[in-house]
Amino acid sequence: MTQVKEGWGSRIGLILAMAGNAVGLGNFLRFPVQAVQNGGGAFIIPYFVSFLLMGIPLLWVEWAMGRYGGIRGNHSTPFIFDSMAKKRIWKYVGVFGIFTNIGIISYYTYIESWTLSYTLKSIFQSFTGLDRGQVSTMFDNYAGVHSHIIGNQLAINVPFWAIVAFLVTLIINIYILSKGLSEGTEKVAKIAMPLLILFGIFLAIRGITLGATGIAGCSTCNSHLGLDFLWKPNFDSLANPKVWLAAAGQIFFTLSVGMGTIHCYAAYVRKNEDIALNAMTAGWMNEFVEIVLGASVVIPIAVGYMGLDWVKENAGFMMAFKTMPYLFNQWGTILATLSGVAWFGLLFFAGITSSLAMGTPFMGFVEDEFGWGRVKSAIVLGIIILVLALPTILFFQYGVFDEYDYWTGTVSLVIFATAEIILFSWIFGLKKGWREITRGSDIKVPHFYKFVIKWVTPIFILTIFITSLFKPLHGEMADWQVAFHQLFSHGTWPWASDSIIAQVFHINVKMIWFKNGMPTGMFFKDMSRLLLLSTFLGLSYLVHIASKKRKLKSKKLQS
Ligand code: PHE
Repeated sequence: MTQVKEGWGSRIGLILAMAGNAVGLGNFLRFPVQAVQNGGGAFIIPYFVSFLLMGIPLLWVEWAMGRYGGIRGNHSTPFIFDSMAKKRIWKYVGVFGIFTNIGIISYYTYIESWTLSYTLKSIFQSFTGLDRGQVSTMFDNYAGVHSHIIGNQLAINVPFWAIVAFLVTLIINIYILSKGLSEGTEKVAKIAMPLLILFGIFLAIRGITLGATGIAGCSTCNSHLGLDFLWKPNFDSLANPKVWLAAAGQIFFTLSVGMGTIHCYAAYVRKNEDIALNAMTAGWMNEFVEIVLGASVVIPIAVGYMGLDWVKENAGFMMAFKTMPYLFNQWGTILATLSGVAWFGLLFFAGITSSLAMGTPFMGFVEDEFGWGRVKSAIVLGIIILVLALPTILFFQYGVFDEYDYWTGTVSLVIFATAEIILFSWIFGLKKGWREITRGSDIKVPHFYKFVIKWVTPIFILTIFITSLFKPLHGEMADWQVAFHQLFSHGTWPWASDSIIAQVFHINVKMIWFKNGMPTGMFFKDMSRLLLLSTFLGLSYLVHIASKKRKLKSKKLQS
């Protein structure tokens, strides 16, 4: 049914676009923070194990599913899944593969727009001479995160410049998407990826060579302590489910697996073109950028000036905006400007190559099913993103942003990955699946992975899913023991507030929407959920209509 002819221009373009899809804000902002919050070297082993037993298998599975679907004219997961299984339900499971992308892109483009503004601020040297407090306040003013309740009035500072920058970022994305894969996304990836790596190497060298900064009275102000903390493996955490959940969650997010994005890009690969080696090249490139470059910038530089304890306590992704420009200031105006441009420019390139990837599944879907052209598909996508993003911008500090991130950037991925690995290994069948992975392959895929994909990865992901559903308070090994004890003796369970079940049923929290006539945090939380749920249902309805259209068409062809 495809009316728009899409495809990749070259192999290098495809690899760079796929690497650009994976390399994103997650590599530079999420990874270091997750690592620090989960004990540095204690995080690294579960992270690598998750990469080898879950990340790599899912990359192969998703590339294979994508190419399989694409050959049959399906470029988004609802109908890719449909082509692999008999039961009708699968196409609705596939809705996650569009929904997740639309959900994430809505808050992701907003952060991307900060990086654009901050690149400009660096060029215009807006941070020169500012102290740490002033740099931090500058961000609060920029994003309007001061809004709070004054008297009885909900005070919302409409962050004018943040909205302008967001609109500009959105328009840039939509424009590139409307140009199509080879003329838009691929061209951008070919420029953005090398520049990003160049900027990253420049900053990483600074982070690694900074050493002791000689700040009086600060014995832990040494970038090497930061690197040591991240890299000295610590085996204590191997039995800590909390660290495993965080590590697996990072692998999902950073590789963009469990999202439907890779399927979509891979759906434009030709029938006998290699996927096994391509998947590895893009995947390992992501790991290089994450663990070598991503680990060598924010944390070591921040430790150099603020000390290890401060960093452990304050690590958060806001550090990139609220603290880094101040730290760059320590290097004198010229180097500070260069570093600012390199840092925020790098983040912008990392961000845009990922957001373009997130935009593609929706476009692929409407182009396939409704025969829309690129421009129309891109504009409609832009409108949807705008509607979903505005609440995250205006009500940022009321937790809307976090709510989106929780459901679309964390929970959805696990649900989708559980479903797809069962579909691939057990319903479609690994025998056929293995043939799909290895057809046209330029490497010999280790046979050992047959076993991994059939058994290890599904069990691994299922365990993560179940653990996230029932996570008890604090979530460490001992807490599980306490929880089971409590279950058997009192018949109750000490829910962690971020366990999926506690979230769904609002366990441990008061269900109050209005207080003194004012909306509460709970109100914003629930409204965000309603919006996301409507998006999911809306997409499911579109899939329903598309499927009816398909049936009608095949009937016509038969008669
Ligand atoms: N992998 C990207 C990152 O690390 C995020 C992403 C999510 C990209 C979903 C595509 C789809 O930032």
